[in-house]
Amino acid sequence: MARILITSALPYINGIKHLGNLVGSQLPADLYARYCRGRGHEVMFICATDEHGTPAELAAAKAGIPVADYCAQLHKVQADIADGFRLSFDHFGRSSSPQNHELTQHFAARLADNNLIEEVSDKQVYSKTDKRFLPDRYIEGTCPNCGYEQARGDQCDECTKPLSPVDLIEPYSTISGSKDLEVRETKHLFLRQSRMVDQLDEWICSKSDWSILTTSIAKKWLDDGDGLRDRGITRDLDWGVPVPEMPGKVFYVWFDAPIEYIGATAEWAQTQGLDDAAWQRWWRTDKGADDVRYVQFMGKDNVPFHTLSFPVTIMGSNEPWKLVDYIKSFNYLNYDGGQFSTSRGRGVFMDQALSILPSDYWRWWLLSHAPENSDSEFTWENFQASVNKDLADVLGNFASRVTKFCRAKFGEVVPEGGEYGADEKALIETLTKRIKAYGEHMDAMEIRKSAAELRAIWVAGNEYLQTAAPWSKFKTDPAAAAAIIRLSLNLIRLYAVLSAPFIPDAAKALQDAMKCADTSWPDDVQAALNTLPAGHEFTVPEVTFAKISDAQREEWQQQFSGKRD
Ligand code: MF3
Ligand code: ZN
Repeated sequence: MARILITSALPYINGIKHLGNLVGSQLPADLYARYCRGRGHEVMFICATDEHGTPAELAAAKAGIPVADYCAQLHKVQADIADGFRLSFDHFGRSSSPQNHELTQHFAARLADNNLIEEVSDKQVYSKTDKRFLPDRYIEGTCPNCGYEQARGDQCDECTKPLSPVDLIEPYSTISGSKDLEVRETKHLFLRQSRMVDQLDEWICSKSDWSILTTSIAKKWLDDGDGLRDRGITRDLDWGVPVPEMPGKVFYVWFDAPIEYIGATAEWAQTQGLDDAAWQRWWRTDKGADDVRYVQFMGKDNVPFHTLSFPVTIMGSNEPWKLVDYIKSFNYLNYDGGQFSTSRGRGVFMDQALSILPSDYWRWWLLSHAPENSDSEFTWENFQASVNKDLADVLGNFASRVTKFCRAKFGEVVPEGGEYGADEKALIETLTKRIKAYGEHMDAMEIRKSAAELRAIWVAGNEYLQTAAPWSKFKTDPAAAAAIIRLSLNLIRLYAVLSAPFIPDAAKALQDAMKCADTSWPDDVQAALNTLPAGHEFTVPEVTFAKISDAQREEWQQQFSGKRD
């Protein structure tokens, strides 16, 4: 048994996320967490809302409520939706928690001790109309790089170049629209990341098992010299983690957000009534975390922050904090010929998805089409085809045919009689090979390959049933039919165990229908297919998967093409 720490990139607090966000971090992290638990490992699975920064403040202003209230409300909304998707976090925290405040200030102090933080006099844009500085998204103007007229103070959305408010041409305040702006000098803290280039380079080069997607992004930022330029880690804002002895200033959101991975684990300990040692054994190598394997899940846009900035915080502290062991990163999921767009309401958002279909349908499609090696695309045709074929025709149909046939011929008990013959032996051989491959793909977090293997495992059962044909054997040799059905009922339980990481609700329904609490991993397939003995009672499961009709597909296609209200 191993100890595995799993974190998913923290969703921004401002609004409900779309399916592209979900498949880029939280959902695959959940798949892996469920799988690791299923294999008997000790797992700590952490996520939280990322609550600081100007996007949160702007969204709260738009909603007309104080930012702290806004964050509390949206946290609850996001937590409920995460439950709806069965995301099995051990804790879903908040980056605004007291634990994160304390840890963020702690890391800043250690970095300062180690001469990695420097106070500089920095130029920032001040609005006389608004009587305040305008950091990040409080200011917009023309991009000096590409000429886009609505570039934001932190980044140009058109050409993606990171910007500073003073770079913008013809800037204006996004609060008041005022152009009455001036550049003022104000003190800020800078993180001297450039001093750590060699250490970072060495660390990244030592990660020979990381994917090309992850390392190529990390190395590009390192080699460009852009990624580890010294950067300001404080802002002139009220909402955030206060900078000690610098009134009116808080830490930059990207400084405190990843620290919340630790903060949320401390929040977990508190809600469990446990002491600090309970979370430190996951995070401090001097307090038991030396045997923890730490895996992070994120979209590719998050990779620079997790391969460079956050490791600078950790390493620069010179304290024995746990560094990430493996980063699983994702490309983007597109929507029906374009991009998902939060601002234009294009695509399916998490709450809407759950309002039309159960979470398993979405989990199955999203995970089996995860954008691992390239961007992938959601289309309603493809979604309909996958659900109808894989879930309804293959898995659902198998479970329903077997249980209904048994009920009709033998009653709702596992039938006696008959030995397993050549067909059964061949099936067990096939399954043994495939289950081994499935486990290896899951261990490697190869999500599409895992899904394909699981599908093949379902198909093998269906083909066996088709060839064995108990419905015709029953007439001449009822004992042989009984053996086929006994094995098939056991196969339903086996499918429940193997499928649980992908489709937990359906797996639970199948497991319950088989009235068996044994969910142990089938290391020995032969033994696993003898778990339910003759005479064991079961019930016919409710219809686990309904097919998506053409009419439904067309209606949804229409409904999600444009503006969300
Ligand atoms: N909120 C960020 C995003 O959605 C991710 C933050 S991840 C963390 O892109 F490391 F900062 F926590
Ligand atoms: Zn630009």
